[in-house]
Amino acid sequence: MPWSAEARAAAAGVALVAFSATLVAGPQGDDAAIATSLAEMLRAGRTVISNNQSRINDPSLGDKGLTGKAVLDQAIQIYRNKTGTDPAAIDPSSRHGRLMRAEMDAILEVMDANQRTINAKDVGFKAFIPAVFGRLVDEAFARNAKGEALIKVTAPEYLVRNRKARPDAWEADVIKTKLLDAAWPRGEPYAASVDAEGMPAFRMMMPEYYAASCLACHGAPKGEMDITGYPKEGGKEGDLGGVISLTLYK
Ligand code: HEC
Repeated sequence: MPWSAEARAAAAGVALVAFSATLVAGPQGDDAAIATSLAEMLRAGRTVISNNQSRINDPSLGDKGLTGKAVLDQAIQIYRNKTGTDPAAIDPSSRHGRLMRAEMDAILEVMDANQRTINAKDVGFKAFIPAVFGRLVDEAFARNAKGEALIKVTAPEYLVRNRKARPDAWEADVIKTKLLDAAWPRGEPYAASVDAEGMPAFRMMMPEYYAASCLACHGAPKGEMDITGYPKEGGKEGDLGGVISLTLYK
């Protein structure tokens, strides 16, 4: 029987925190604030792709104008509106500034690397959707952050489409015992200081729920193929659909 996060944390002698959206002061608070900020930038980038999805899918259009810079500028605007902070103003020598730049560079890289796909004429659906964009950004971020941090979008095991998104043991445990618990406050992240592959780390799991727009692919009828060629999961609006999982190594 796998250990619970609490049991492992207790054995490792580290603090375990669950907190509300208002972030606490102190080192844990800094970690939580950085993790939240990185997740917000990922969400902002995905929103830009989502807002432009019909353009991306339009077979009559060639150049969509969605360069790395154009997408990053829009993502920065969304991030600023949400957080009231200009990411470019975060001190580049701070951990937050370093990681934010690694993430913004990742957005630039992913968009620039996918121009041919996105700008292909006479092709409708190109499989360039927010989830794919997000996964590619997470992969580029991991390279840019050089082992200092990881961003991953995972999901309850029964929903996972891409094997790379499968939850690890800790993530699976948090999803099962916390985020899927009927008593878990909706939208509340879960965070803990734990060992991640033998290294001390701050880890945070931010739940995401299906909106009506997700159900074209993740909704009913379960098993029917969606436009991307995956069988639909039979999800309902408001179900836990995924989790942004952040790891900040100490
Ligand atoms: C156009 C169909 C489509 C729509 C709409 C869609 N998804 Fe997905 N989703 C996918 C595909 C395809 C993947 C696998 C992407 C990959 O290759 O990594 C995926 C992956 C995911 C993942 C990562 C875990 C996994 O299964 O690989 C999460 C979480 C997720 N989707 C949640 C959502 C949410 C929440 C929404 C609505 C805001 C949404 N999706 C809308 C098709 C879609």
